[in-house]
Amino acid sequence: AQGVARGADGVVTVQDLAVTRLAEEFGTPAYILDEADFRARCRAWKDAFGPGADVYYAGKAFLSRAVVRWLAEEGLHLDVCSAGELATALDAGMPAERIGYHGNNKTPAEIERAVAAGVGRIVVDSFQEIARVAHAARALGVRQKVQIRVTVGVEAHTHEFIATAHEDQKFGLALAGGQAEEAARRILGHDSLELTGVHSHIGSQIFDMAGFEVSARRVVELLGRIRDEHGAELPEIDLGGGLGIAYTPADDPREPQEVAKRLAEIVGHECDAAGLRTPRISVEPGRAIVGPTAFTLYEVGTVKPLEGLRTYVSVDGGMSDNIRTALYDAEYSVALVSRASDAEPMLVRVVGKHCESGDILVRDAYLPADLAPGDLVAVPATGAYCRALASNYNHALRPPVVAVRDGAARVIVRRETEEDLLRLDVG
Ligand code: LLP
Repeated sequence: AQGVARGADGVVTVQDLAVTRLAEEFGTPAYILDEADFRARCRAWKDAFGPGADVYYAGKAFLSRAVVRWLAEEGLHLDVCSAGELATALDAGMPAERIGYHGNNKTPAEIERAVAAGVGRIVVDSFQEIARVAHAARALGVRQKVQIRVTVGVEAHTHEFIATAHEDQKFGLALAGGQAEEAARRILGHDSLELTGVHSHIGSQIFDMAGFEVSARRVVELLGRIRDEHGAELPEIDLGGGLGIAYTPADDPREPQEVAKRLAEIVGHECDAAGLRTPRISVEPGRAIVGPTAFTLYEVGTVKPLEGLRTYVSVDGGMSDNIRTALYDAEYSVALVSRASDAEPMLVRVVGKHCESGDILVRDAYLPADLAPGDLVAVPATGAYCRALASNYNHALRPPVVAVRDGAARVIVRRETEEDLLRLDVG
């Protein structure tokens, strides 16, 4: 996070608050989120794309009422992909017209709820869903704005589980074989639907602009074909999220300015060539906004040197608060944050307290050789897809999210308690 510094005593501070104090007050493990940094990133995306575009924060990365309020205040839109996310967004006061609804299998009940709430758009992902949204809108006597999620057929250079635009996967309607055009034809045939544009999301944690560029071209080509076949010139395109962030110093992320400029150039150029009016662009960054804004604070419990191999450092959390290393081979860094140390670096693996050997948080890292139980360590860049993917595995209690701003800290999502766990266990 931007507000992180190390004091003369070696203690790390965030927004001028010492992590040692945060640990005392809120316990560990805890996600510490820099609200000022979050807001700054919202503004950076909004400013980069300018007034002719909309930035939809992807709520799946991390969503809470406070986050929704920050987004609303900063003028962002919000992408939700479940009834739960929609409920959180509406409860915290996000205007419905600024909400976009995604998902490859929204239930009829979810669709009805979204249409009834007046969401600004539903991104349709199948022929069945087109019929369901049309039906719900007709029954409610409204005209629902929809976009078509298209599969543009590019291989994003990222982990297989988070790539979404190659042909053999579950999302979207394929450009190949004309499914996307058929979707347009069907939508245009329903009075209760208004087709506003097409949508492409190619994957996540991507550094190379090439995939986004190909995707933008193909989306504009599709607009051209829809105009030629149906006489409808669609006013919007959405180019999804997916911009990578730095988890370790080896990562080299693109900045929003660079992305905005490049995408605007390509869309402008392709539209000129096809004689199309330039559509309004929207994007859906999740990780790039919230990822870098938080770190997870852990207390070291045991330090176990394995002769000739490495030292295993066990902390008081694990795969229940960050499953990304186990699931995607994600790489993280780690630092001792509660004191200074001049000790030699030692090769460590930071692991959690769960009952399986895959419970790894940081596969390879160096920490000072005098590391001891009671020290605090921090894993940076855990704002996205960590609390969001957290579980109660081994009946772990999910950690709180503590927001810091202007030298003050407050809990925005509280730590789970044993009562919370037992409340659902009604047998
Ligand atoms: N738009 C759509 C339609 C998406 O499916 C996603 C992410 C986003 C936007 C936001 O992508 P972002 O800017 O955050 O990369 N759990 C995985 C990531 C799954 C991403 C799912 N969709 C991880 O931890 O890496």
